[in-house]
Amino acid sequence: MILPIYAYGQPVLKKVAKPITKDFEGLEKLLEDMWETMYAANGVGLAAPQIGKSIRIFLVDSKQMMEEGEEDKGIKQAFINAEMLVEEGKPWPYEEGCLSIPDITGDVERPSAIKIRYQDENFETHEMVLTGLNARVVQHEYDHIEGKLFTEQLKPLKRKMIKRKLEKIRKGDVKASYIMKFRRP
Ligand code: NI
Repeated sequence: MILPIYAYGQPVLKKVAKPITKDFEGLEKLLEDMWETMYAANGVGLAAPQIGKSIRIFLVDSKQMMEEGEEDKGIKQAFINAEMLVEEGKPWPYEEGCLSIPDITGDVERPSAIKIRYQDENFETHEMVLTGLNARVVQHEYDHIEGKLFTEQLKPLKRKMIKRKLEKIRKGDVKASYIMKFRRP
């Protein structure tokens, strides 16, 4: 089932999300719906706050970003209860966008390598070291479960330039190719 994507301005996007336990009801269905929602919106990542749930779950499929024939350099993974352990390496700029903030992109500088601990859909704990685009997508999605948006990390001038556009999104005055849920004033 495709779920509506919560838009910029929704309070859930600003909350630090809570961990879930093994007995969380309906996890399998939730993950299935999140994957379906992400792909339907042509996303490479989706975090639970973006579908209105303040819980520590996000999905990443960076295989879609790799060159043809090099899809196996990407990752496809559901991250549950993730904890960022290390972020290191020279920060590099990359143009990010977000399904919750349609029509806005901007360069964000982030460290090039990360180590993250998470649980998979069977609640087995893993640690993963990632670099480049894989690290980037995970960093962006991890920010979502920490209540942070990429627009907050843009340079001051760029932030100023998109201010009006963000206000329009908050009010629902934006077009997206997928269903969004706006905060009603
Ligand atoms: Ni995002």
